[in-house]
Amino acid sequence: MTQQSQEMQAAPADNTPEATEDKAPKKLLDVKDLTSSYGRIQALKGVSLHVNVGEIVTLVGGNGAGKTTLLRSISGVQPITGGSITFRDEDISNVPAHKRVPNGIGQSPEGRQIFGPLSIEDNLMLGAYTRKDDLIDFDLDRVYKMFPVLKERRKTAAGGLSGGQQQMLAIGRALMARPRLLLLDEPSMGLAPILVDQILEAIASLQKEAVTVFLVEQNAFAALSIADRGYVIETGKITATGKAKDLMEDDAVREAYLGV
Ligand SMILES: Nc1ncnc2c1ncn2[C@@H]1O[C@H](COP(=O)(O)OP(=O)(O)OP(=O)(O)O)[C@@H](O)[C@H]1O
Ligand SMILES: [Mg+2]
Repeated sequence: MTQQSQEMQAAPADNTPEATEDKAPKKLLDVKDLTSSYGRIQALKGVSLHVNVGEIVTLVGGNGAGKTTLLRSISGVQPITGGSITFRDEDISNVPAHKRVPNGIGQSPEGRQIFGPLSIEDNLMLGAYTRKDDLIDFDLDRVYKMFPVLKERRKTAAGGLSGGQQQMLAIGRALMARPRLLLLDEPSMGLAPILVDQILEAIASLQKEAVTVFLVEQNAFAALSIADRGYVIETGKITATGKAKDLMEDDAVREAYLGV
């Protein structure tokens, strides 16, 4: 098979140019009035947002705003108390987490959660455990091209990687599930600015690979700089939304999140 035909085959079915050329953008994820609680603490107070096929959408907000709770609700590991989550036109609100991964939802969790004693390559292969297709090697190669340092060190224990490299591994592992929608929880957390840039560049490059991205960040400036659209969340509620470049110019957003 030629490189080109492999790449065409690599694109998930509903991310094809035919699908994205429709006049109306096609919703991949649609969250409506979502609520979720920890005991008496209501972490999500009716969150509505959507992500269209092919977009990079970011959700920015401070400490404890509800970002991780929302991501975990979408991936199915956090119970919801109300509202709905629709993915590829199917209501998945009651679909168990393990069935959402093969359905096309991949997550790089907060704090990376890589398996330190395992090799880098074994960590990556764990991301592909639900797959039965024959493109796993092709995708492994794709991750190695995106993050060459992971290839160089692929046989070594993942625990020996730096924070930035572990973040690359967490993203790579999520990509190994060949998700239609990639959920990223604060990939820039704790990284030096140069590594933040490198990670963001890699995330931005996913758009060319037909991966749709929902990126959650405290680092609003970094996230908005690569996103198409954004949402701002404060104590469990969406308080602003718009094109990423408009949000970056919004006075209230700048004051609260961009430190300017
Ligand atoms: N396991 C838990 N038990 C009780 N309360 C929790 C738990 N996890 C989160 N919370 C509370 O839920 C709210 C939302 O937390 P969440 O972790 O979703 O915020 P976040 O936006 O991801 O914050 P951060 O940027 O610090 O990661 C906060 O008030 C938090 O204290
Ligand atoms: Mg969080």
